[in-house]
Amino acid sequence: MNVAVMGYGTIGSGVVEILKVNKDVVAKRAGEELNVTKVLDLREFEGDPISKIIVHDYKDIAEDPDIDIVVETMGGVEPAYTFVKAMLENGKHVTTSNKALVADKGAELIRIAREHKVNFMFEASVGGGIPIIRTLNSCLTGDVIEEITGIVNGTTNYMMTKMTNEGSEFDDVLREAQAKGYAEKDPTADIEGHDACRKIAILTSLICGQQVDYQDVPTEGITGISADDIKYAAAMGRKVKLLATSTKVGRSYYCRVAPFLLEPGHPLYHVDDVFNAVFVHGNMLGDGMFYGSGAGKLPTASAVVGDIVAIAKHIDKNIYLEWEEEKLTLANPNQQSYRYFIRTDLDKDAITGIFSKVDFVDAGISGETGFITDELTELKLSDMTEDMGKEHIINKIRLA
Ligand code: HSE
Repeated sequence: MNVAVMGYGTIGSGVVEILKVNKDVVAKRAGEELNVTKVLDLREFEGDPISKIIVHDYKDIAEDPDIDIVVETMGGVEPAYTFVKAMLENGKHVTTSNKALVADKGAELIRIAREHKVNFMFEASVGGGIPIIRTLNSCLTGDVIEEITGIVNGTTNYMMTKMTNEGSEFDDVLREAQAKGYAEKDPTADIEGHDACRKIAILTSLICGQQVDYQDVPTEGITGISADDIKYAAAMGRKVKLLATSTKVGRSYYCRVAPFLLEPGHPLYHVDDVFNAVFVHGNMLGDGMFYGSGAGKLPTASAVVGDIVAIAKHIDKNIYLEWEEEKLTLANPNQQSYRYFIRTDLDKDAITGIFSKVDFVDAGISGETGFITDELTELKLSDMTEDMGKEHIINKIRLA
């Protein structure tokens, strides 16, 4: 079977590398040899053997009758969407690592694939090398998934781990993460939670079988987390981590991306550095957790190659996947309840005058008071912080 790769960047070149290094095992498992015959990229790669199979027009792949499977590792919604759609309409199977494309156009591309009796797969779009998508679609398909909570962004988990272990400030850790190549030059998508938001929208769409718009997911990043917050977390015996979470409520889900304070008993507490993990609670499974390399060239490419082999085994068949285009209205996030850790410049008397029950936290930081509230809805908390005066709030972090 012949494979084309669109986008010869980090992941695309990783896919080519795996298909070369593991050629024999992959051939055995797929039932026949898989050859990369075309690579689409704007660049020429002169002097590199790949230059012999570089093409610059996606139609050279879409209209090539000898190509069965197309890998999309370009990133971004356009032109990836136009190219992928054309591939599916031309009867080619597609696998992608592109979470922006899947979050935005997943339901539509799944339908187009179904109409053309091919497959659109996207294992690498969430959790890098962790096989979470196929796990949800196949292994746990007999369950109603009642909760899915993940650390699905390696960059921010690395940064939170560094801040926790070294007491460093956010900006210093970000600079170091950029120097090490973990954080992008423009880190916005990671540190503002946009990347995690797309990933939880994809996972929630899969567990409910409907389109979940990532724009509907309340999203906070980690930019508001300071070394002082980490000191308070240590005083509480907790760690701050960016979580992406969905919890079933009635026929819908509460969805959220935000930094949370995790206690040591939390299943995600020990997930550190660039690692990712996804905790799942199914009504039959109970608890399950999937842990591993959530980003990087070969782990992500490994997931893409897993899709290629799955496609090769189902080359004449569309594997049904439930993700309908009809949008799911998410449950009102203001009705969700948490305990909150709050830092304020008000004194203890003022706080106890507003909140009936609090636990004070002493991290040895002068001029402010830290406390944990009772369980409150987001709406109730908003009313109470209004009573405190928003200008008196230094920070607020939810407990998990
Ligand atoms: N920027 C992402 C991360 C890459 O840090 O996890 C994988 O999606």
